Amino acid sequence: MPHIPEADEPDRRYVPCGAVRVKSSAPRVIENFLDMAHFPFVHTDILGSEAHSEVEKYKCEIRRDVDEVWATDCVFTQPQAAKSASGAIRTDYIYRITTPFTVLLYKTCPMSETRWDVICLFVQPMEPGLCRAHPVMFLLDETSTDADLIGFQQVIFLQDRIILENQRPRLLPLEPRFETPTRADASSIAYRRWLKEKGCVYGTTLGPADTFTVTAA
Ligand SMILES: [Fe+2]
Repeated sequence: MPHIPEADEPDRRYVPCGAVRVKSSAPRVIENFLDMAHFPFVHTDILGSEAHSEVEKYKCEIRRDVDEVWATDCVFTQPQAAKSASGAIRTDYIYRITTPFTVLLYKTCPMSETRWDVICLFVQPMEPGLCRAHPVMFLLDETSTDADLIGFQQVIFLQDRIILENQRPRLLPLEPRFETPTRADASSIAYRRWLKEKGCVYGTTLGPADTFTVTAA
């Protein structure tokens, strides 16, 4: 488990958002979480708008000292960045992949200029092409109800699920040039390289076959 110091801050809301079954592979779910390019088209008028669809250049690296993948200096203009946001803001993001199936997001907090909201996604693989996602948030928000906060996150995640369940192949391709990346995909490229280096191929096209397709028939 990653150490999440924000979880111990007494004024932070601990918001577990339940478990969502997704007919996709765990690494596809992680990659979707890293991807900013889809915000305007999948989370229209919430996390993005079609008028601002460009993903600005950001930094991405495999941090060898801690064996994690980090994407920093990510910026996106978001109409409704969080439940607590009133109006569009330019939102800063830092992504931190701590294990092959765990990703943490530090995001501009609309309620504080000096602290981040923290959103974690723990993905539990069930089969190569099937998983359960557990989003957990540690937020600064004194006004929204738990139901409001969970509802906001679930709307976002269920929008993602539609896309994820229609992606083919369901397993994450690790062969070079199987999918054509763009500059916006720098974090995906680093994540795939990191998985490959580790030999962590479960849920990828180099791992065991996608039995879910068979068992679901
Ligand atoms: Fe999304």
